[in-house]
Amino acid sequence: MADPKSISDHWGKGDVFSRIVGAMRSAGIDRETVTIEQLAPVDHFHARGFPATRELADALPIEAGYRIVDIGCGLGGPARYLADRFQCHVDGIDITEPFVVAANKLTELVGMQHAVRFRHGDGQNLPYADETFHGAYTQHVTMNVPDRGAFFREACRVLKPGAFFALTEHGLGEIGQPHHPLPWSEDGSGAYLMRPSETVEVLEQEGFSDITVTNTGDKYLQGYNQAIKLAESGELPAFGSHILLGKLAPQIVRNAARNIKEGRTHPVQIICRKPA
Ligand SMILES: C[S@@+](CC[C@H](N)C(=O)[O-])C[C@H]1O[C@@H](n2cnc3c(N)ncnc32)[C@H](O)[C@@H]1O
Repeated sequence: MADPKSISDHWGKGDVFSRIVGAMRSAGIDRETVTIEQLAPVDHFHARGFPATRELADALPIEAGYRIVDIGCGLGGPARYLADRFQCHVDGIDITEPFVVAANKLTELVGMQHAVRFRHGDGQNLPYADETFHGAYTQHVTMNVPDRGAFFREACRVLKPGAFFALTEHGLGEIGQPHHPLPWSEDGSGAYLMRPSETVEVLEQEGFSDITVTNTGDKYLQGYNQAIKLAESGELPAFGSHILLGKLAPQIVRNAARNIKEGRTHPVQIICRKPA
């Protein structure tokens, strides 16, 4: 699964938007009046969902009027949240075209086309001019990125001097060899996990400084354990991210928790800067 097409097929094939709208209907959410809060259980499509986006946002120096880029934006929930919370503009790019189509349609549903815009593309080759953005972030994307150097170089290139770069990911743990399936790979193909210390080295090589690494393993473990409990009690909500993970969802969540516990993965949040 190493080529971009197979990574994109892994994440989302077919009409993702219709699947989301169908789940909204089952949950009694009216598409005419839907809000970003109502979309949050699905469109913050990463471990721990919206609470993790909010915590990342709390740590970012974003001001009104800033232009920010979300690399690997998925369905666009984080971008819409940041644009609404900080009154900034967010560009999103993602390698999975059905996600980008859904991201733009969901944005229309909540009337935020003025503040966020999504396009199809690869974070290893960004379609933006040098020094365009006041900040960039990438949430749970880099596990699928074969050329970390190119990905970080491109992020650095499109940032203004002094701008921030933030990433959250599942790094490789001390023990390594994660159990699969996982959200980013069914069998280990297309997965390119790196130890957090290696990620820091590549960030430095590509020009970033002031690098702060936070271990988020305990929080993620708690989040996964809650999801496992919910699933076992048969109380999964009609509108939740499991609708996108498919029938492997229970196994994926159990493996994600087990990998952290066994030191096979090491989730981190990293915030750094392009030097001024
Ligand atoms: C777990 S989802 C996270 C989506 C979004 N960041 C969020 O937090 O809601 C991972 C996303 O990374 C995207 N992705 C993987 N490799 C990518 C790449 N090289 N460039 C852009 N997007 C990529 C996938 O298509 C998928 O949408």
